[in-house]
Amino acid sequence: MDKKQQIVQRLTETDGFVSGQELCRMLGVSRTAVWKNIQKLKEEGYPIEAVTNRGYRLLSMQETDVFNREQIAGKLRTAWAGRPIVFTEETGSTNDDIFALAAQGYPHGTLAIASRQTSGKGRRGRSWISPPEGNIYMSILLKPDLRPDVTPMLTVVMALSVYQASLEQLTDIKEPAPGTGTAQHTCRFGIKWPNDIVVSLEDGPYRKLCGILTEMRMEDNEISAITIGVGLNVNQTKLDPEIAQNATSYALALGKKVNRAALTASIWNHFEENYNIFTQTEDFVNLRPAYEAGLVNLGRHVHVLDPKSPFTGIAAGINERGELLVQPDEQGEKPSGASGSPIAGTAPAGAGLFIDPERPLIAVGSGEVSVRGVNGYV
Ligand code: BTN
Repeated sequence: MDKKQQIVQRLTETDGFVSGQELCRMLGVSRTAVWKNIQKLKEEGYPIEAVTNRGYRLLSMQETDVFNREQIAGKLRTAWAGRPIVFTEETGSTNDDIFALAAQGYPHGTLAIASRQTSGKGRRGRSWISPPEGNIYMSILLKPDLRPDVTPMLTVVMALSVYQASLEQLTDIKEPAPGTGTAQHTCRFGIKWPNDIVVSLEDGPYRKLCGILTEMRMEDNEISAITIGVGLNVNQTKLDPEIAQNATSYALALGKKVNRAALTASIWNHFEENYNIFTQTEDFVNLRPAYEAGLVNLGRHVHVLDPKSPFTGIAAGINERGELLVQPDEQGEKPSGASGSPIAGTAPAGAGLFIDPERPLIAVGSGEVSVRGVNGYV
C-alpha cells in the first residue's frame, strides 16, 4: 500500500481529526511529505479538511466521486472480472489498451480504465467523445472458450449488466416501480436494443447514457482476445452539441453526483454473474426475461435500418440469440392497437402497440443493422 492509501485508510478509521504528527510517525516521513500527499489526495477528489493544531479529517464520502483503482477494487465482489485493474489518467482508447495488455499476457478479466480518452472509438467507425469531466471509459479483456458466432451476444450481456447497475442508482428513492423513481421527478432507465443504455425524465424522450463497443482478435481461426468497451456519461453536466439532442448523463438524469467507483464496481459485479449464466448455455435463454424487463423498444414502432432491405414494424422482444424480434408492418398500413396481444414493457408514452399472433416475426441481428424509433431515437 502506498503512502497516500495508508493516509486514506487511517482517516477512514476515524470520524475525527488525525494529527499531522501521528501521520508522520506512521509513515516515517516529514510533515512536508505528509502535506504533499494530502494535496495529491485532494486533487484526486478526496474531501479532506485540514485544520491548524488539529490535523486532517476525511469528510463524508457520500456523493463524492473519488475515482481510482483502490476505490473500485474495494467495492468489487467478483472472482475474475476487474482483476487486475489497470487505471490510467489518459489514454487513446481503452479497447486498444486491452489488446496491448493481452499481448503482454494479462489474464481474462483484466480491466483497463481511463479518466479520459484521446481517440475513443464508437460503433460503426464513429468516434466516442471522451472528455475528462467525470465520465467512465473502460474495457475488459475476455479470453473465452466460445464460438466466434456467439460473441455478438456478449455485447447484449454487457448492456444488461449496465442496466442493472443503473437501477441501483435509484435505491435512495422511495418505493420505486421497476426501473422508475419518484423523488423529485420520474427517472426511468432502459435498454435500447441491442446495447445502448438510455434514460427518460418525466416520461420525456429517451436519451443515451452509455455506449458499448465489442472487438475481437482471432489467431488460427480461434478467438485470442475479446474486449468489451463501455463508455458512460456520468458526472458530465455539459454535453457536446453534436450529441446533446439524443444523449444525457447520470448526473443530469438523477439530479445528483454519482460515485463512479461504486457504479463501475456494480457493473462488473453484475457482468460476472450474467456472463457465468450466459456461458452455461452460450445463448440468451436464461437472461432474456431480465433483458426484456428493461427493453424500451418493446411494443414500439421501430425502423430497422438494414442497408439491404430497411423496413418498419413493432418490436416484440428478443430471441435466445439476443436478436430483436420485429413484426413488419403490413404494406400500406400503420400499426394500431386494434387487435392481437398487448406487449408489456417498461416503455412510457408511445409503447403498447399490438402484435398479431397470426403474423410472423423477423429476427434482426445486431451486426450491420441498427434500429431507431419511427418517431425519434427510441
Ligand atoms: C457506441 O458507439 O455506442 C459505442 C461507444 C463505446 C465507447 C467505449 S469508451 C471505452 C471503450 N474505448 C473505446 O475506444 N470505446 C469504448
